[in-house]
Amino acid sequence: MGDLIKLVSIATIISVVFISCNNNQTKKTEAIAISQQDLKSTKGYKLLESKCYICHFEVPDPVKMNQMLAPPMLRVKEHYLPNYQNKEDFIKAITNIINNPSEENTLMPGAIKKFNLMPKLIYNQDELKLIAETIYKYNFGAAPKMKMLMMGGLQLNNGERWKLKKETIKKLDGITNSLYTFKSNEIKEYNQFGKDLFEQAKFIMLDKSYTGDKFDQIHNFFSGVESDMHLLIEEKSIENAKSLVENMKTKFNDFYNFFEEE
Ligand code: HEC
Repeated sequence: MGDLIKLVSIATIISVVFISCNNNQTKKTEAIAISQQDLKSTKGYKLLESKCYICHFEVPDPVKMNQMLAPPMLRVKEHYLPNYQNKEDFIKAITNIINNPSEENTLMPGAIKKFNLMPKLIYNQDELKLIAETIYKYNFGAAPKMKMLMMGGLQLNNGERWKLKKETIKKLDGITNSLYTFKSNEIKEYNQFGKDLFEQAKFIMLDKSYTGDKFDQIHNFFSGVESDMHLLIEEKSIENAKSLVENMKTKFNDFYNFFEEE
């Protein structure tokens, strides 16, 4: 008899747990469905529109390329999400850089070079958090890289390689070397390696002494490897991480066909 009571109570507990889990599941899916559909009518999205879309387009618009004052928000998210995949980290990173735009903490050196540093504006911190959360939740879709498509890859300078400062070539050699010497079987170390590579590449991208066509070619090269770095930062499989590193080795080797020390 005691056993039967036990059995019944265990069964009851199990079913209660099961039902409540199930309920949670439904609630979760509902919440996601609502946020995608109705996010545009939330306070967060309205703030994003009124405070940020003054300068940022939501997504790249090929017709208005020359009216851009800042990188489209889709691109901003593409740069921040791989580095800050957790919602709280993402919100913190976005609010930090807005409260204190800096070359040191940028994840978008190409954008700084192109548009100059984002001006430091004062925002209500609760509103800012809401905006950052909206960027995290909002699905901006995907858009191909216009510039790469338009420029059709790297080009020589009238048949000659572009001349770069010794210091730049040294940094590049450093990156290339680390690509060849990096070895690990831990995916976390690959992810960190992606961040380290990006940090090194950033310095070259932010170098103010390169301008005009030369800078465009440097930028062109880096936008090609930058996506590999982003993928490496968020990659979960060792196999894919290894092939990303191989991919980058090939691209960095190719760099020396287009650039040389002055
Ligand atoms: C006055 C124009 C302007 C406004 C308003 C503006 N931005 Fe920007 N933002 C820029 C420019 C220019 C850049 C590119 C240069 C840079 O990265 O600093 C940028 C870059 C960024 C970056 C990338 C920073 C980095 O370098 O890693 C984030 C994130 C960002 N904006 C978010 C926002 C959000 C969110 C808002 C609204 C609260 C906003 N911006 C409002 C001009 C603006």
